[in-house]
Amino acid sequence: MKPKVFATHSLFDAAREILKDNCEVEYWTRPERPPRDEVLRRVKDKEALICLLTEKVNEELLQAAPKLRIAANVAVGFDNIDVAACTKRGVVATNTPGVLDETTADFAWTLLMAVARRLGEGEALTRSGNWTGWDLDQLVGTDVWGKTLGLVGFGRIGRAVAQRANGFRMRVIYTDAVRAPAEVENELHAEFMEMNALLEEADFISVHVPLLPETRGLFDASKFRRMRPTAFLINTARGPVVDEAALVAALENKKIAGAALDVYEKEPLIPPGLKRPNVVLAPHIASASLETRTKMACMAAENVIALFGGRRPENALNPEVLKV
Ligand SMILES: NC(=O)c1ccc[n+]([C@@H]2O[C@H](COP(=O)([O-])OP(=O)(O)OC[C@H]3O[C@@H](n4cnc5c(N)ncnc54)[C@H](O)[C@@H]3O)[C@@H](O)[C@H]2O)c1
Repeated sequence: MKPKVFATHSLFDAAREILKDNCEVEYWTRPERPPRDEVLRRVKDKEALICLLTEKVNEELLQAAPKLRIAANVAVGFDNIDVAACTKRGVVATNTPGVLDETTADFAWTLLMAVARRLGEGEALTRSGNWTGWDLDQLVGTDVWGKTLGLVGFGRIGRAVAQRANGFRMRVIYTDAVRAPAEVENELHAEFMEMNALLEEADFISVHVPLLPETRGLFDASKFRRMRPTAFLINTARGPVVDEAALVAALENKKIAGAALDVYEKEPLIPPGLKRPNVVLAPHIASASLETRTKMACMAAENVIALFGGRRPENALNPEVLKV
């Protein structure tokens, strides 16, 4: 008997190919995300779930899926998964680390450049038909090269962002719960700092910490007060790491110069106060290149195949539940 799998997305051909011979997969193929009751209904008889960050794998879902042995997230962030609850029930939870670092770092830079050089405003003007021609002080932005980049979270993605900053001849400072080894700091020309010092010194702050109880609301009013009035905040991590109401207030009161966001507290809701010219808004697409999203889907599929093949899924978040 092949293990029964529910995939909450049709995935990509390459991932379907990995699953097709060894699993009986039911795919959610509609363009919208599946409603919660539909997910709960479909996991009832399944031994594996391949899910996206839009699905909560919590006590409720685990109760609805008594046969479940693995929840394979197609994302590196796993704040949508209650790992402790999975562990309690012997369910392996997996994520997709590593394959999206460069793509996500590229996009953090896309946002940084766009907000510094006012690309959103420039694009809107050019398309509007109201552009009357070149002018000396038209849409003047802020230089990126030679400035100070502050990274909050210096893991896989934070480091990939740092690597790119070297090409812009920037000074790179970072803060993290764990200081990086000296070789990494030297290679990336990155200097460790406490959070408060980083807030005061950085011209651009890019956030790369996971969403955890300790990082929820990390960027609150007190952090914005410490930032420079000329500084920009870039968030490609998770929305709730930034207190959006405090961010809106900081923008309104000119405590900071602008922001560029890929993620939001209550996606897909965008607070009206963020829809301002000095804020660049993207719809959670930092890892969204075809190559990378395909790799992520394949990695999730491989994790499922490994478990049912009697091997250790490479990206187990709770390896203690594995017997092999
Ligand atoms: N927008 C997107 O599409 C997108 C894409 C990929 C990743 N992400 C997000 O980016 C996050 C980071 O990914 P990664 O692969 O670099 O993770 P990682 O685990 O390699 O790095 C995270 C870093 O944050 C640090 N950290 C954890 N808690 C901290 C705290 N309280 N204070 C300071 N530092 C702390 C860790 O020590 C680690 O160095 C993911 O968890 C995910 O939520 C978003």
